[in-house]
Amino acid sequence: MNEVGAYTRLAGVYDEIVVDPCYSLWADFLDAMWRLDAQGVRTVLDVCCGTGLMAAELIKRGYSVVGADASAAMLARARSLLGDDVQLIEAILPELGTTAMFDAATSNFDGLNYLTPDDFRLSIQSVAGRIRPGGWFVFDLHTDAMMTFTIDNAVVQGESDGNEFVILSDVDPLERTCQTTIKVVHSREGEPFTETHMQYFHSDAEVEGALATAGFVDVHKVDEYTDDPVDTTTLRATWIARLSR
Ligand SMILES: C[S@@+](CC[C@H](N)C(=O)[O-])C[C@H]1O[C@@H](n2cnc3c(N)ncnc32)[C@H](O)[C@@H]1O
Repeated sequence: MNEVGAYTRLAGVYDEIVVDPCYSLWADFLDAMWRLDAQGVRTVLDVCCGTGLMAAELIKRGYSVVGADASAAMLARARSLLGDDVQLIEAILPELGTTAMFDAATSNFDGLNYLTPDDFRLSIQSVAGRIRPGGWFVFDLHTDAMMTFTIDNAVVQGESDGNEFVILSDVDPLERTCQTTIKVVHSREGEPFTETHMQYFHSDAEVEGALATAGFVDVHKVDEYTDDPVDTTTLRATWIARLSR
């Protein structure tokens, strides 16, 4: 089957096959938190914005959002969702491709799990450089429970909106990596294709160390964009951090 680069052909079917319809709830969580900031949160940098699903929800709630992502194909989808007025930047982390300052940054649906530990650390520093003092960085990452879940569910098959897919995950628990092969065996949009994605399970110590080094404080994490604490069943942890003043 036609092997293509990560997030090239997948962009065309991403919203249909990859994403849970969760962005409205996630945006409500961010909005409720940011509304309590006495300085006000108006400008948001969406890091690894993908097809713009979160940006769209934040814009609906009155935020001014800039999206950055490495994939031209994902950004093209974001452009058609968000229209011409939203700034979208093609940049490979740790580059962000902007010198603007923001009240907050966010990164959702495991975008930061695509970074090697070194690039993760450097990217946290890059984001810190673009947030005002006291501003926010809220992002999600896979947990160790997700690593176990993925090992136990190494093959996932499905059909959505005329696309048939198989997702094969190969986790190396010692290296804390996951190589995922996404085969779209019948594509509504054209020829079948395969993409291979590499992700990294960042340990809590790595995340906490990277945030502290970059100047973030008040760091805590919750269960997937809720007020619930992280426990052994949490698959996606939401990290909340503020830049020191
Ligand atoms: C799982 S998708 C998440 C997209 C979006 N945040 C969402 O919630 O749907 C991961 C995104 O991370 C982007 N990405 C992966 N590695 C990247 C890198 N090194 N720099 C910038 N973006 C990257 C991909 O292009 C893809 O759009």
